[in-house]
Amino acid sequence: MLKSKDLLGLKQLSAEEINEIITTAEMMKMVLDTNNKKTSHLQGRSVVTLFYENSTRTRLSFELASKYMGSVSANISTSGSSVNKGESLLDTARTIDMMATDIIIMRHNQSGAPHFIAPHLKSSVVNAGDGMNEHPTQALLDMFTMKSSFGKIEGLKVAICGDIFHSRVARSNVIGLTKLGAEVSLFGPPTMLPMGIEKMGCKVAGSVHEAVEGADVVMGLRVQLERQNQSLFPTVSEYANFYSITQDVLKLANKNAIVLHPGPCNHGVELPTVVYDSPQSLINEQVKNGVAIRMAILYMLMARRNQQ
Ligand code: NCD
Repeated sequence: MLKSKDLLGLKQLSAEEINEIITTAEMMKMVLDTNNKKTSHLQGRSVVTLFYENSTRTRLSFELASKYMGSVSANISTSGSSVNKGESLLDTARTIDMMATDIIIMRHNQSGAPHFIAPHLKSSVVNAGDGMNEHPTQALLDMFTMKSSFGKIEGLKVAICGDIFHSRVARSNVIGLTKLGAEVSLFGPPTMLPMGIEKMGCKVAGSVHEAVEGADVVMGLRVQLERQNQSLFPTVSEYANFYSITQDVLKLANKNAIVLHPGPCNHGVELPTVVYDSPQSLINEQVKNGVAIRMAILYMLMARRNQQ
Protein backbone atom coordinates (compact mmCIF):
# COMPACT_ATOMS: atom_id res chain seq x y z
CA MET A 1 0.00 0.00 0.00
CA LEU A 2 1.33 3.46 -0.89
CA LYS A 3 1.90 5.76 2.08
CA SER A 4 1.01 9.00 0.28
CA LYS A 5 -2.12 9.95 -1.70
CA ASP A 6 0.24 11.34 -4.40
CA LEU A 7 3.12 10.02 -6.45
CA LEU A 8 5.48 12.98 -6.66
CA GLY A 9 8.93 11.43 -6.96
CA LEU A 10 11.05 8.41 -6.20
CA LYS A 11 12.61 10.47 -3.41
CA GLN A 12 9.31 10.11 -1.55
CA LEU A 13 8.96 6.32 -2.12
CA SER A 14 10.57 3.54 -0.08
CA ALA A 15 12.32 0.56 -1.69
CA GLU A 16 9.30 -1.59 -0.64
CA GLU A 17 6.86 0.73 -2.39
CA ILE A 18 9.00 0.73 -5.57
CA ASN A 19 9.15 -3.08 -5.52
CA GLU A 20 5.40 -3.32 -5.00
CA ILE A 21 4.73 -1.05 -8.00
CA ILE A 22 7.04 -3.19 -10.17
CA THR A 23 5.38 -6.45 -9.02
CA THR A 24 1.93 -4.98 -9.74
CA ALA A 25 3.16 -3.92 -13.22
CA GLU A 26 4.18 -7.54 -13.91
CA MET A 27 0.52 -8.53 -13.43
CA MET A 28 -0.73 -5.59 -15.49
CA LYS A 29 1.58 -6.62 -18.34
CA MET A 30 -0.08 -10.04 -18.38
CA VAL A 31 -3.46 -8.28 -18.75
CA LEU A 32 -2.06 -6.22 -21.65
CA ASP A 33 -0.90 -9.40 -23.36
CA THR A 34 -4.44 -10.82 -23.49
CA ASN A 35 -7.09 -10.01 -26.08
CA ASN A 36 -9.24 -8.30 -23.46
CA LYS A 37 -7.28 -5.46 -21.90
CA LYS A 38 -10.27 -4.08 -19.98
CA THR A 39 -10.33 -4.30 -16.19
CA SER A 40 -12.78 -2.67 -13.78
CA HIS A 41 -10.26 -1.34 -11.25
CA LEU A 42 -11.09 2.29 -12.05
CA GLN A 43 -14.77 1.81 -12.87
CA GLY A 44 -16.73 4.95 -11.97
CA ARG A 45 -13.51 6.87 -11.20
CA SER A 46 -12.01 9.79 -13.08
CA VAL A 47 -8.50 10.54 -14.27
CA VAL A 48 -7.41 13.85 -15.85
CA THR A 49 -4.09 14.50 -17.59
CA LEU A 50 -2.84 18.10 -17.38
CA PHE A 51 0.21 18.63 -19.58
CA TYR A 52 2.11 21.94 -19.74
CA GLU A 53 4.86 20.35 -21.86
CA ASN A 54 4.97 18.17 -24.95
CA SER A 55 4.61 14.42 -24.58
CA THR A 56 3.88 11.38 -26.70
CA ARG A 57 4.67 8.30 -24.62
CA THR A 58 3.91 9.45 -21.08
CA ARG A 59 0.61 11.09 -21.87
CA LEU A 60 -0.71 8.42 -24.22
CA SER A 61 0.31 5.59 -21.89
CA PHE A 62 -1.49 7.22 -18.95
CA GLU A 63 -4.57 7.83 -21.10
CA LEU A 64 -4.64 4.27 -22.38
CA ALA A 65 -3.88 2.82 -18.93
CA SER A 66 -6.78 4.69 -17.35
CA LYS A 67 -9.13 3.71 -20.18
CA TYR A 68 -8.09 0.04 -20.08
CA MET A 69 -8.96 0.13 -16.37
CA GLY A 70 -12.44 1.50 -16.99
CA SER A 71 -12.12 5.09 -15.77
CA VAL A 72 -13.72 8.20 -17.16
CA SER A 73 -10.75 10.13 -18.47
CA ALA A 74 -10.14 13.54 -19.97
CA ASN A 75 -7.13 15.62 -20.85
CA ILE A 76 -6.22 19.26 -20.84
CA SER A 77 -3.23 20.75 -22.55
CA THR A 78 -2.23 24.34 -22.03
CA SER A 79 -3.13 25.39 -25.56
CA GLY A 80 -6.93 25.59 -25.62
CA SER A 81 -7.35 25.95 -21.84
CA SER A 82 -7.77 29.02 -19.63
CA VAL A 83 -4.03 28.80 -18.89
CA ASN A 84 -3.72 30.89 -22.05
CA LYS A 85 -5.99 33.50 -20.42
CA GLY A 86 -3.48 33.76 -17.57
CA GLU A 87 -5.12 31.41 -15.05
CA SER A 88 -2.70 30.33 -12.34
CA LEU A 89 -1.50 26.77 -11.89
CA LEU A 90 -3.25 26.45 -8.54
CA ASP A 91 -6.59 27.81 -9.83
CA THR A 92 -6.38 25.46 -12.82
CA ALA A 93 -5.63 22.48 -10.58
CA ARG A 94 -8.40 23.41 -8.09
CA THR A 95 -10.89 23.70 -10.95
CA ILE A 96 -10.06 20.16 -12.09
CA ASP A 97 -10.16 18.94 -8.48
CA MET A 98 -13.67 20.35 -7.94
CA MET A 99 -15.05 18.28 -10.83
CA ALA A 100 -14.81 15.17 -8.61
CA THR A 101 -11.54 14.09 -10.19
CA ASP A 102 -9.77 11.19 -8.49
CA ILE A 103 -6.33 11.40 -10.08
CA ILE A 104 -4.57 14.29 -11.81
CA ILE A 105 -1.51 13.40 -13.90
CA MET A 106 0.58 16.51 -14.39
CA ARG A 107 3.63 17.44 -16.46
CA HIS A 108 5.08 20.91 -15.91
CA ASN A 109 8.21 22.78 -16.95
CA GLN A 110 8.82 24.06 -13.40
CA SER A 111 10.58 21.75 -10.96
CA GLY A 112 8.37 21.21 -7.91
CA ALA A 113 5.06 22.21 -9.57
CA PRO A 114 3.21 18.96 -8.64
CA HIS A 115 4.61 19.13 -5.09
CA PHE A 116 3.18 22.67 -4.83
CA ILE A 117 -0.38 21.81 -5.89
CA ALA A 118 -0.77 18.37 -4.27
CA PRO A 119 -1.42 19.49 -0.65
CA HIS A 120 -4.20 21.83 -1.86
CA LEU A 121 -6.17 19.10 -3.63
CA LYS A 122 -8.37 16.14 -2.69
CA SER A 123 -7.32 14.37 -5.92
CA SER A 124 -4.17 12.27 -6.04
CA VAL A 125 -1.44 14.02 -8.04
CA VAL A 126 1.01 12.05 -10.20
CA ASN A 127 4.19 13.74 -11.39
CA ALA A 128 4.57 13.01 -15.11
CA GLY A 129 7.81 15.04 -15.24
CA ASP A 130 8.54 18.36 -13.47
CA GLY A 131 11.19 20.54 -15.10
CA MET A 132 14.67 19.21 -14.38
CA ASN A 133 13.66 17.51 -11.13
CA GLU A 134 12.04 14.06 -11.42
CA HIS A 135 10.17 11.79 -13.82
CA PRO A 136 9.26 8.99 -11.41
CA THR A 137 6.99 6.97 -13.70
CA GLN A 138 9.70 6.82 -16.42
CA ALA A 139 12.31 5.57 -13.93
CA LEU A 140 9.80 3.01 -12.61
CA LEU A 141 9.23 1.65 -16.12
CA ASP A 142 13.00 1.62 -16.71
CA MET A 143 13.52 -0.40 -13.51
CA PHE A 144 10.61 -2.68 -14.45
CA THR A 145 12.34 -3.32 -17.81
CA MET A 146 15.65 -4.08 -16.03
CA LYS A 147 13.95 -6.45 -13.58
CA SER A 148 12.16 -8.24 -16.47
CA SER A 149 15.55 -8.82 -18.15
CA PHE A 150 17.70 -9.76 -15.16
CA GLY A 151 15.17 -10.90 -12.53
CA LYS A 152 16.51 -8.35 -10.04
CA ILE A 153 17.78 -4.79 -9.68
CA GLU A 154 20.16 -5.27 -6.76
CA GLY A 155 23.79 -5.51 -7.89
CA LEU A 156 23.10 -4.44 -11.51
CA LYS A 157 25.63 -2.08 -13.08
CA VAL A 158 23.81 0.72 -14.86
CA ALA A 159 25.55 3.29 -17.10
CA ILE A 160 23.57 6.45 -17.87
CA CYS A 161 25.11 8.58 -20.63
CA GLY A 162 24.22 11.95 -22.12
CA ASP A 163 22.63 15.19 -20.97
CA ILE A 164 22.49 14.41 -17.24
CA PHE A 165 22.12 18.04 -16.23
CA HIS A 166 18.72 18.60 -17.83
CA SER A 167 17.46 15.07 -17.30
CA ARG A 168 14.68 14.39 -14.80
CA VAL A 169 14.87 10.78 -16.05
CA ALA A 170 18.50 10.51 -14.87
CA ARG A 171 17.66 12.00 -11.47
CA SER A 172 14.73 9.65 -10.84
CA ASN A 173 16.76 6.65 -12.02
CA VAL A 174 19.72 7.49 -9.76
CA ILE A 175 17.37 7.86 -6.77
CA GLY A 176 15.39 4.67 -7.49
CA LEU A 177 18.28 2.45 -8.59
CA THR A 178 20.46 3.33 -5.60
CA LYS A 179 17.50 2.66 -3.25
CA LEU A 180 17.23 -0.80 -4.79
CA GLY A 181 20.97 -1.54 -4.56
CA ALA A 182 22.14 -1.04 -8.17
CA GLU A 183 25.47 0.64 -9.03
CA VAL A 184 25.02 3.69 -11.24
CA SER A 185 27.75 5.32 -13.38
CA LEU A 186 27.06 8.60 -15.15
CA PHE A 187 28.84 10.09 -18.10
CA GLY A 188 28.27 13.11 -20.32
CA PRO A 189 29.89 16.34 -21.47
CA PRO A 190 31.35 18.14 -18.41
CA THR A 191 28.96 21.04 -19.08
CA MET A 192 26.04 18.60 -18.76
CA LEU A 193 27.13 16.94 -15.52
CA PRO A 194 25.80 18.66 -12.40
CA MET A 195 28.55 19.39 -9.85
CA GLY A 196 28.38 17.15 -6.81
CA ILE A 197 25.98 14.62 -8.38
CA GLU A 198 28.09 11.85 -6.74
CA LYS A 199 26.42 12.87 -3.47
CA MET A 200 23.32 11.08 -4.80
CA GLY A 201 25.20 7.78 -4.44
CA CYS A 202 26.38 7.31 -8.05
CA LYS A 203 29.79 7.43 -9.76
CA VAL A 204 30.88 9.85 -12.47
CA ALA A 205 32.96 8.12 -15.17
CA GLY A 206 35.84 9.73 -17.06
CA SER A 207 34.74 8.53 -20.49
CA VAL A 208 31.85 6.76 -22.20
CA HIS A 209 34.10 3.67 -22.35
CA GLU A 210 34.70 3.72 -18.60
CA ALA A 211 30.96 4.16 -17.89
CA VAL A 212 29.91 1.29 -20.16
CA GLU A 213 32.68 -1.20 -19.29
CA GLY A 214 31.10 -4.20 -17.54
CA ALA A 215 27.63 -2.59 -17.50
CA ASP A 216 24.43 -4.67 -17.52
CA VAL A 217 22.29 -1.73 -18.58
CA VAL A 218 23.35 1.12 -20.88
CA MET A 219 20.91 4.03 -20.95
CA GLY A 220 21.18 6.92 -23.41
CA LEU A 221 19.57 10.27 -22.65
CA ARG A 222 18.32 12.83 -25.12
CA VAL A 223 20.23 16.06 -25.50
CA GLN A 224 17.52 18.50 -24.35
CA LEU A 225 18.12 21.46 -26.64
CA GLU A 226 14.81 23.05 -25.56
CA ARG A 227 16.17 23.55 -22.01
CA GLN A 228 19.43 25.19 -23.14
CA ASN A 229 19.83 28.89 -23.75
CA GLN A 230 23.48 28.48 -24.67
CA SER A 231 25.38 25.79 -26.51
CA LEU A 232 26.82 23.29 -24.04
CA PHE A 233 28.86 21.38 -26.61
CA PRO A 234 30.62 22.54 -29.79
CA THR A 235 28.82 20.61 -32.54
CA VAL A 236 26.49 17.63 -32.85
CA SER A 237 29.14 15.61 -34.71
CA GLU A 238 31.68 16.29 -31.94
CA TYR A 239 29.09 15.22 -29.37
CA ALA A 240 28.51 12.00 -31.31
CA ASN A 241 32.28 11.35 -31.48
CA PHE A 242 32.83 11.59 -27.74
CA TYR A 243 29.56 10.66 -26.13
CA SER A 244 27.56 8.42 -28.45
CA ILE A 245 26.80 4.82 -27.45
CA THR A 246 28.16 3.19 -30.62
CA GLN A 247 28.43 -0.52 -31.42
CA ASP A 248 32.12 -0.37 -30.47
CA VAL A 249 31.34 1.23 -27.12
CA LEU A 250 28.67 -1.42 -26.45
CA LYS A 251 31.22 -4.21 -26.94
CA LEU A 252 32.68 -3.12 -23.57
CA ALA A 253 29.43 -3.86 -21.76
CA ASN A 254 28.45 -7.29 -20.44
CA LYS A 255 27.52 -9.90 -23.02
CA ASN A 256 23.83 -9.79 -22.00
CA ALA A 257 23.69 -6.03 -21.60
CA ILE A 258 20.53 -4.21 -22.60
CA VAL A 259 20.21 -0.72 -24.13
CA LEU A 260 17.54 1.69 -22.90
CA HIS A 261 16.47 5.21 -23.89
CA PRO A 262 13.40 7.05 -22.58
CA GLY A 263 12.68 8.55 -26.00
CA PRO A 264 12.35 10.61 -28.01
CA CYS A 265 15.78 9.76 -29.43
CA ASN A 266 18.02 11.94 -31.60
CA HIS A 267 19.29 9.17 -33.89
CA GLY A 268 23.03 9.45 -34.55
CA VAL A 269 23.54 11.70 -31.50
CA GLU A 270 22.85 9.72 -28.30
CA LEU A 271 23.18 6.47 -30.22
CA PRO A 272 23.19 5.37 -33.86
CA THR A 273 20.10 3.80 -35.48
CA VAL A 274 21.93 0.47 -35.72
CA VAL A 275 22.13 0.36 -31.89
CA TYR A 276 18.53 1.61 -31.53
CA ASP A 277 17.36 -1.27 -33.73
CA SER A 278 19.76 -3.92 -32.37
CA PRO A 279 18.52 -7.03 -30.49
CA GLN A 280 20.14 -5.60 -27.34
CA SER A 281 17.89 -2.56 -27.51
CA LEU A 282 14.72 -2.73 -25.37
CA ILE A 283 13.65 0.80 -26.30
CA ASN A 284 10.37 -0.39 -27.84
CA GLU A 285 9.77 -2.79 -24.92
CA GLN A 286 10.13 0.21 -22.58
CA VAL A 287 7.16 1.82 -24.33
CA LYS A 288 5.02 -1.27 -23.72
CA ASN A 289 6.21 -1.50 -20.11
CA GLY A 290 5.23 2.15 -19.71
CA VAL A 291 1.55 1.27 -20.06
CA ALA A 292 1.84 -1.59 -17.53
CA ILE A 293 3.68 0.54 -14.97
CA ARG A 294 1.12 3.34 -15.30
CA MET A 295 -1.72 0.85 -14.84
CA ALA A 296 0.05 -0.35 -11.68
CA ILE A 297 0.42 3.21 -10.36
CA LEU A 298 -3.25 4.04 -11.02
CA TYR A 299 -4.27 0.75 -9.39
CA MET A 300 -2.21 1.40 -6.26
CA LEU A 301 -3.27 5.03 -5.89
CA MET A 302 -6.90 3.98 -6.21
CA ALA A 303 -6.45 1.19 -3.66
CA ARG A 304 -5.16 3.79 -1.23
CA ARG A 305 -8.06 6.15 -1.98
CA ASN A 306 -10.52 3.30 -1.38
CA GLN A 307 -9.06 2.84 2.12
CA GLN A 308 -9.66 6.46 3.13
C1 NCD B 1 11.54 12.23 -21.21
C2 NCD B 1 11.02 13.48 -20.52
O1 NCD B 1 10.03 14.09 -20.95
O2 NCD B 1 11.63 13.84 -19.54
N1 NCD B 1 10.66 11.67 -22.15
C3 NCD B 1 9.70 10.79 -21.76
O3 NCD B 1 8.90 11.06 -20.89
N2 NCD B 1 9.71 9.59 -22.36
C4 NCD B 1 12.90 12.42 -21.77
C5 NCD B 1 13.10 13.45 -22.83
O4 NCD B 1 12.21 14.24 -23.17
O5 NCD B 1 14.22 13.48 -23.34
